[in-house]
Parts: sequence; C-alpha cells; structure tokens
Amino acid sequence: MKPVTVGVLGLGTVGGGTVNVLKRNAGEIARRAGREIVVTRASARDLNRTRICATDGITLTADPFEIVNDPDIDVVVELIGGYDLAKQLVLTAIANGKHVVTANKALIALHGNEIFAEASKKGVMVMFEAAVAGGIPIIKAIREGLAGNRIKWLAGIINGTGNFILTEMRDKGRDFADVLGEAQALGYAEADPTFDVEGIDAGHKLTILASIAFGIPLQFEKVFTEGITKITRLDVEYAEALGYRIKNLGIARKTEEGIELRVHPTLIPKRRLIANVDGVMNAVLVCGDAVGPTLYYGAGAGAEPTASAVVADLVDVVRAMTSDPENRVPHLAFQADAIADIPV
Ligand code: NDP
Ligand code: HSE
Repeated sequence: MKPVTVGVLGLGTVGGGTVNVLKRNAGEIARRAGREIVVTRASARDLNRTRICATDGITLTADPFEIVNDPDIDVVVELIGGYDLAKQLVLTAIANGKHVVTANKALIALHGNEIFAEASKKGVMVMFEAAVAGGIPIIKAIREGLAGNRIKWLAGIINGTGNFILTEMRDKGRDFADVLGEAQALGYAEADPTFDVEGIDAGHKLTILASIAFGIPLQFEKVFTEGITKITRLDVEYAEALGYRIKNLGIARKTEEGIELRVHPTLIPKRRLIANVDGVMNAVLVCGDAVGPTLYYGAGAGAEPTASAVVADLVDVVRAMTSDPENRVPHLAFQADAIADIPV
C-alpha cells in the first residue's frame, strides 16, 4: 500500500522530535498503523537554522500554506503554536479534506469548538493528544480507558515548566528567573513563557481535559487561573519544613452547582504520590465512579516525549483512514443542545 504522506508545520522542539521518532521507529510505527508513514514536506521560518532532526528526503518551505494546500499531503501536523496563523492553517487543511494532528493546546482550548465542527462537516479527524501533559496518553486514557465511567474529578500537574521551576527552587535554592531561562533553553517553555508561569498553559490543558471528561464544550474563559510567579524560595522552604510541597494543580470537579475549573498553587502533604512528581514530569489523577482514582505519570514536555504523543495520534489517524468513518473517535462527544444548561 502507498505510504501515508505527512506535512509537518514547524520544525522546532516538537516538530524536530516528531521527525526523529518517525524515522527512528519507522518499522514499529508502520506495523502498528498498518501503513508506512512518511514526512515528505515541512515548514519553518528560517530554513538555514540547524535543526534537531535530519531533513533529507523532506522538502522544506518557509510558507506553511504550501503544505496545507498540497494535494499530495494526506495528514497535516501543526507544530507552530499560537492562535491566529495556526487556526488559519488548520482550517485550510480541513477545508482541503486533510486530517490534522496538533500539539497546540492554546488553539484547541480557544478555537477547538469551531475547528471540530468544521472537521466533522468535512469528515476529517483532528487529533490533539500531545496538547495535554506531553507524552502521557491522558486524552486516550480518559476517552477510551475510562469510557465506562462517570468522571467525578480530575487533578494534575499539567505544566512541566512550572513544575521544573518549583522543583529547582526547592532542591537547589535556585532563582525563579534562572530556572525559567533553563526551561526555555531545554525547549520546555511556551513561546510566551508567561503562559507557563501564570497558569494559562495549564488552564488551556484543563479546558481540554474537562471537555473530554465531562462532555462539556471547550470554555477556557471559565477557568480560574493563577500561576507561580508570586511564589518565593521562602514559601517553598516553609512548605517543606511543614511537611508539604507546593504544586500548581489544574483541578476539574463535578459539584452540585456545575463543573469547577481552577488552576492555582496548592500545598500537598509530602506523603502523597503527586507531591513527589518533580522536574518536568507531569501527573494527572482521574477519578471515575466505577474505577475510583487512577494516576497517570510521565514527561510533560520536551521533544521526544511530546513526539511520542504526536506519533500515536498519527497512527490513530492512519488506522482510521483505512476503516469505516462512522467508527472514528468523535472529536468531542457532547450533545450540542445539552450544553448550555451546565453551569461551569
Ligand atoms: P518551537 O518554537 O520550538 O517551534 C515552532 C516552529 O514553528 C519552528 O520551527 C518555527 O520556525 C515555526 N514557526 C514559528 N512561528 C512561525 C510563523 N509565524 N510562521 C511559520 N513558522 C513559524 O515550538 P515547540 O516545538 O516547542 O512547540 C510547538 C507546539 O507544540 C506549540 O503549540 C506548543 O504549545 C506545543 N507543545 C510543546 C511542547 C514542548 O515541550 N515544547 C510540549 C507539548 C506541546 P523556526 O524554527 O524557523 O523559528
Ligand atoms: N510549556 C509546556 C509545559 C509544554 O511546560 O508543560 C508542554 O505542554
């Protein structure tokens, strides 16, 4: 069978990682997907920059619209980030009948409702596993593994940069700004790092998790967000001395009044598993009525952990391309007319 052709928009941390994983594990991936997956085109702003991946066999362009309009591309992987350009590119890809994989939580949290509606009209898939908690397959865990449950609550460390900063402040007494600089150099931070440290990135991710878990529309504007910028080394030291760890948690909880959505620093007793999730690692607790509490742990950011999730979505898309469209994973499984009554 002819290989599935992929166009990657953005060849930075995640784009480069994705190309590397697809090349290195091509055999395993083809076996699981049922078809070979090949990156034939990719875009970046600066075509002369040294990349973390080899680009032989890939036609590069500085114009990502060339890729979304290319009839020879089957699947578009959006790894540019941001809202406006990414939205235009994804909508154009959908309009051209292409499946889309993205790691862009800002895009999904703010424009996902519109994007999924367009995708459903065109009968294409938009997948976003990498948008939440990096390499942890948390979307698939909630959507598939916990499909038989009513989700009662979920809570997690869902920003790797913020957790890395808090850990380094605690363990090495380092300054906030110094650690943030290192997180940027390591490729963990967002293009605008205030998203990481002000709780906005975690708010985007919580928006997505809550939508999948509770069947509500994406409503980022309803999330209370507070970051870690006001936390000092002294706060971290006092918490430690009192037997606690400071963790910035995203929390979504079903209450009598509706769904509560909040991101803020919390004090967690050191004996709890989640208090011991350090550095760039993420962890998400999800409690279902049937299964009880479950915990998911793994790298929350970085080139290859995130690529792992991007490639898993690509495999799902390729499997679905050869199966009955009626059996595809729905973008968001909520009833449009049942939503407005849910107070969030
Ligand atoms: P990078 O900044 O490393 O890469 C972005 C890429 O997009 C670069 O290749 C850049 O080109 C290109 N690009 C940026 N702006 C434009 C533009 N205006 N026009 C054309 N191309 C552009 O970002 P990341 O790889 O870190 O992140 C990509 C996406 O993945 C984001 O949505 C992010 O939130 C998400 N994500 C990131 C994770 C991580 O650990 N980094 C983890 C999970 C999700 P050039 O290289 O020439 O500058
Ligand atoms: N900037 C994000 C983080 C990347 O640090 O968690 C992963 O989504």
